[in-house]
Amino acid sequence: MYNLLKGKKGIIFGALNEQSIAWRVALKAREEGAQLVLTNTPIARRFGSVDELAQLCSAKFIEADATSVEDLTRLVKESVDYFGGPFDFVLHSVGMSPNVRKMKPYEDLNYEFMNKTLDISAVSFHKLLSVLYREDALKQWGSVVALTYLASTRSVAGYSDMADAKAMLESIARNFGPIYAKRRNVRINTVSQSPTLTTAGQGVAGMKEMYEYADRFSPLGNASADDCASYVVSLFSDLTRKVTMQTLYHDGGFSSVALSEPVMEMYLKGLEK
Ligand SMILES: NC(=O)c1ccc[n+]([C@@H]2O[C@H](COP(=O)([O-])OP(=O)(O)OC[C@H]3O[C@@H](n4cnc5c(N)ncnc54)[C@H](O)[C@@H]3O)[C@@H](O)[C@H]2O)c1
Repeated sequence: MYNLLKGKKGIIFGALNEQSIAWRVALKAREEGAQLVLTNTPIARRFGSVDELAQLCSAKFIEADATSVEDLTRLVKESVDYFGGPFDFVLHSVGMSPNVRKMKPYEDLNYEFMNKTLDISAVSFHKLLSVLYREDALKQWGSVVALTYLASTRSVAGYSDMADAKAMLESIARNFGPIYAKRRNVRINTVSQSPTLTTAGQGVAGMKEMYEYADRFSPLGNASADDCASYVVSLFSDLTRKVTMQTLYHDGGFSSVALSEPVMEMYLKGLEK
C-alpha cells in the first residue's frame, strides 16, 4: 500500500464478479485510499455479486446502463452529490458482443448485434465522456481509463466485431484527449490488457487456448487482473499526470514480439511428430 489515491474519489464501471478486471481495480483503489461509486446494469447486479464488492469497498452502488445517456447523467449527478463535488477518476470496464456470444463468424455478422456491440463497448465511452464534460464532473488533473485489447490494431482470430469496437474505443480516447486537457488537465487513456479469464473474456471462442498462447508468447507472461489493477491505479494517481491519449500496452510484452523462442520450439516439435 502506497496511499496513491488518498483523498481521491471515482466511479468504477463493470465489476460483475470476482474475476472482473473492474473488481480487482476497485479493491486496489480502495486499498490505496480511494472513495468509490460502483456501477453496472440492473441485470448484472442481479446475476453478479457487485453488492458484495460494494460492502467490501464501503462503496455506493448506482445502477446505470452505459448505453443510456439518461442513466449516465443520473449516475454522474448522484456521484457528484455523494462525493460532495467533482471527482478524480473513472474506469470504463465495459464490453459485450452479441455476435461473439452467438459465435457468429466475422464474415457473417448480424448487424443489429454489431450495433449493440459498438454501442455497449465503444460508443458508451463517448457518451460517458460527454456526460462527464457537460456536468463538469471531473477535477483538475483527473484521469479516465478504459480497457481495450490488441485486436484493435492486429487481427486476432475469434475476436470478431469486438475488434472494431476496441479500435473505436481507442480513437474516442484520443479525440477527447485534447478537449479534456484544455478543460482541467484531465487525462484520457486506454489500457490494452492481456487475455484474462473473466466472464467477458471467456465468451471469446478459443479463449483458453488464446490465454495459453499469449502466456508463452509474452516475455513476461500474461498480466493478471490484479496486475492490471495496479497499473490502472498508477494511472489514477498523481504519478502519471502527463500521460494522455495513449493506448498503453499492459501485456507482458506480447504486443512487441514477432517471434518467440518458446512458441517456435513448440511449433518445431509439432512438425517433427
Ligand atoms: N478479459 C479479457 O481477456 C480482456 C482483455 C482485454 C480487455 N478486456 C476488457 O476489459 C473490460 C472488462 O471486461 P472483463 O474481462 O473484466 O469482463 P466482465 O465480464 O467481468 O466485465 C464486463 C462488464 O461489462 C458490463 N456491461 C455489459 N453491458 C453493459 C452496459 N450496457 N452498461 C454497463 N455495463 C455493461 C458487464 O455487466 C460486466 O460487468 C472490457 O472492456 C473488456 O473488453 C478484457
